[in-house]
Amino acid sequence: MGKASTCKDALLPLVLLLGVIDVLAGQAPYACDQSNATLAAFPFCNTSLAITDRVEDYVARLTLEEKISQLINTATGIPRLGVPKYQWWQEALHGVASSPGVQFGGSVPAATSFPMPITTAASFNTSLFYGIGQAVSTEARAMHNLGQSGLTFWSPNINIYRDPRWGRGQETPGEDPLLSSNFATYYVRGLQESQAGSDKLKVSACCKHMTAYDVDNWLGTDRYHFNAIVTEQDLEDTYNAPFKSCVEDGGVSSVMCSYNRLNGVPTCADHELLTTTVRETWKLNGYIVSDCDSLQVFFDNTNYAATAEDAAADALLAGLNLNCGTFLAKHTLSAIQQKKVTEATINQALTYLVTVQMRLGLYDGDPKSQTYGSLGASDVCTSEHQTLALEAARQGMVLLKNLGALPLSTSKIKSLAVVGPHANATRAMIGNYAGIPCKYTSPLQAFQKYAQVSYAPGCANVACSSDSLISGAVSAAAAADAVVVAVGLDLTIEAESLDRTSLLLPGKQQELVSQVMQAAKGPVVIVILSAGAIDIPFALSDSRIAGILWAGYPGQAGGAAIAEVIFGDHNPSGKLPATWYPQNFTSISMLDMNMRPNASTGYPGRTYRFYTGPTIFKFGDGLSYTSLSAKFIKAPSFLSIPSTAPMQPCTGLKKSSSCFHLDATDEKSCESLKSQVAISVRNKGAMAISHTLMLFSTPPNAGSDGVPQRQLVGFNKIQIAGDSISNPVIFDLDPCRHFVHADPDGKKLLRSGTHVLTAGNEQHSLRLLVRP
Ligand SMILES: *[C@@H]1O[C@H](CO)[C@@H](O)[C@H](O)[C@H]1NC(C)=O
Ligand SMILES: *[C@@H]1O[C@H](CO)[C@@H](O)[C@H](O)[C@H]1NC(C)=O
Ligand SMILES: *[C@@H]1O[C@H](CO)[C@@H](O)[C@H](O)[C@H]1NC(C)=O
Ligand SMILES: *[C@@H]1O[C@H](CO)[C@@H](O)[C@H](O)[C@H]1NC(C)=O
Ligand SMILES: *[C@@H]1O[C@H](CO)[C@@H](O)[C@H](O)[C@H]1NC(C)=O
Ligand SMILES: *[C@@H]1O[C@H](CO)[C@@H](O)[C@H](O)[C@H]1NC(C)=O
Repeated sequence: MGKASTCKDALLPLVLLLGVIDVLAGQAPYACDQSNATLAAFPFCNTSLAITDRVEDYVARLTLEEKISQLINTATGIPRLGVPKYQWWQEALHGVASSPGVQFGGSVPAATSFPMPITTAASFNTSLFYGIGQAVSTEARAMHNLGQSGLTFWSPNINIYRDPRWGRGQETPGEDPLLSSNFATYYVRGLQESQAGSDKLKVSACCKHMTAYDVDNWLGTDRYHFNAIVTEQDLEDTYNAPFKSCVEDGGVSSVMCSYNRLNGVPTCADHELLTTTVRETWKLNGYIVSDCDSLQVFFDNTNYAATAEDAAADALLAGLNLNCGTFLAKHTLSAIQQKKVTEATINQALTYLVTVQMRLGLYDGDPKSQTYGSLGASDVCTSEHQTLALEAARQGMVLLKNLGALPLSTSKIKSLAVVGPHANATRAMIGNYAGIPCKYTSPLQAFQKYAQVSYAPGCANVACSSDSLISGAVSAAAAADAVVVAVGLDLTIEAESLDRTSLLLPGKQQELVSQVMQAAKGPVVIVILSAGAIDIPFALSDSRIAGILWAGYPGQAGGAAIAEVIFGDHNPSGKLPATWYPQNFTSISMLDMNMRPNASTGYPGRTYRFYTGPTIFKFGDGLSYTSLSAKFIKAPSFLSIPSTAPMQPCTGLKKSSSCFHLDATDEKSCESLKSQVAISVRNKGAMAISHTLMLFSTPPNAGSDGVPQRQLVGFNKIQIAGDSISNPVIFDLDPCRHFVHADPDGKKLLRSGTHVLTAGNEQHSLRLLVRP
């Protein structure tokens, strides 16, 4: 046993005390105490048996009432079998987070708080997504060993961020299905760390909220009443895409259904979604949980089920296994008595649940004697994890404007005014679903390393309802060599249950920026903390604004990353993970879920793949301090589709047309089209960079007929020294995955013709031909 558990246990209040009481009553705080001969003899406690056999043994021992008590997040204990109660609800969106199953205190008062996913996603670095997952799961296991956390974490949130007003956009990896898919895959793999050939889990992750959630509370419509009308086409190639990857590539062990309805059906009662798609097609190896308390919500707020028993049965028969809330505990027994659902369905749900618990080792006895048993308090908030939190913030910084004044030079800038409501941001940097961070580095603190700093908040808070503090910021700006004005949003403006109605800065913040800009004698740099787009109408064109840096919500070390970028200790390489629309985008209904534009109604569509209107910044925008150029080293000019492949002529075109659609699920022809593209990047500046290389494709007929204008084919993060050329970066090209879009029926099609690849300013044409 590690040092953590010996002397420090005395400090642990409630949690361990409860454990002690259990022990006094003859029961350990974990199942299958191997020192108890009665328990050790149960086959479900026998670690040399197969998990399937152990689960079967355990489920068979439970009475119907006991089984029902296990279908909710606060599962009761089964004392006669030595099984303690279990809290399924833990959160770890960007660090172990305060949630019902997590208790900070005692020897673990805090955990590393990484940037919000919207910022981490801006790094476009899959190793970083994975590394953060690993660090978080290490801290989670350590807390579990100390009795301060369960092992089932309902993270990440991978809903597509298709509208900048959405209050939960900050929790997501942005608007692009490929980026979201890769984020889900790598973050989940880092959390679960399942080893090849083993079914064991370090912790259990959960991809949520399936599906087409994307509205919290907008002009009177809330998530509990929202009925998302989504086409099969958008569902297939946008809304469901990250969930499919999370299950198939990430191997996630749980999926959560959402509050909203999808085309009239509550997602937690949608058999097509939960069973046909997630369980049977994607082959989820894990459990399906409801959002808290989705079942009560759909029973109360929709007319979908006539009685509570119907609602319980609908959910269980659709494929739901666990209810966050109490609804199933209350109504399942009567639903069975009324023959709306059978005990066999309950057994199946329990089998999925207990299997995940067994894979976590929750029936293997003392956690301290297991694989991760030596982790303890000294493995939380380690300097390594805190450095990773800083590194993630650095990699997520997106430089949006630079007229040349950046990076600031310490030899020229001796005095710096740091003003604005986020100048001394701490709590605001860690967003929601946060824990207690190890420590904060605010921008104000970090800038003191570089210059003589004067500070004036300019606003009392982010809402900035009064202009009374602006004059203080103006005086500071007028007296300094340079000004950083830190503005934006926080959880009082964009949050769960709170969507925005405007894309402008709240209250008098814009007035603050404008007055500071007019008074400043040196360069003015705007730092924006927000998830969604902010429209500052004059900021782009006015030459008095020397730079704009978007910091997202950068986590506990965010201030340091901001200062390092502004003073050139870090060469920024983050890219926007979502489109920045202008303010008048808010004239579009947030409830319109269509991705594709509609010319007859003037609806402009959403995200860089489809949106046809003007933008402030585009998906993928982000500057660096060096200039770079990409070059295609190797790429095929044509790929041939076997003439025997399943194809159909493109719809709406004349018969004589040579356009064909290949069924992109046909494995044999898809395999034959696989290829590789190699690209090198030249860094023409002196400063080394960690560059984000993005490869896009423009399909034939782009932007019409439901075909995307562009789509991301791949991305890679590469180190390039100053004045040098990178090694070739290889992209595996799978046209059936990277070039496809869904047709109106949700069928994935690959179109013949010329697909144009773009990397930086370079283009390469690739023709997909049907071989005669
Ligand atoms: C566990 O199962 C193995 C394999 O069946 C068996 O040999 C062993 O005796 C069992 N252990 C206990 C404690 O029952
Ligand atoms: C073994 O566990 C059972 C079930 O929790 C309990 O009733 C019994 O008292 C325990 N035996 C000992 C020796 O602690
Ligand atoms: C900055 O914020 C921290 C944490 O809220 C606070 O302790 C400190 O006093 C603030 N600094 C100034 C100069 O207001
Ligand atoms: C916003 O204004 C621009 C410029 O006038 C216009 O092109 C665009 O269609 C408008 N967008 C919406 C959603 O009204
Ligand atoms: C465009 O909108 C009109 C009017 O609501 C609708 O009838 C039509 O089906 C829409 N077209 C597409 C392609 O969605
Ligand atoms: C990606 O992130 C990892 C983890 O922080 C880091 O080690 C690696 O250097 C990054 N890749 C590049 C090219 O910067």
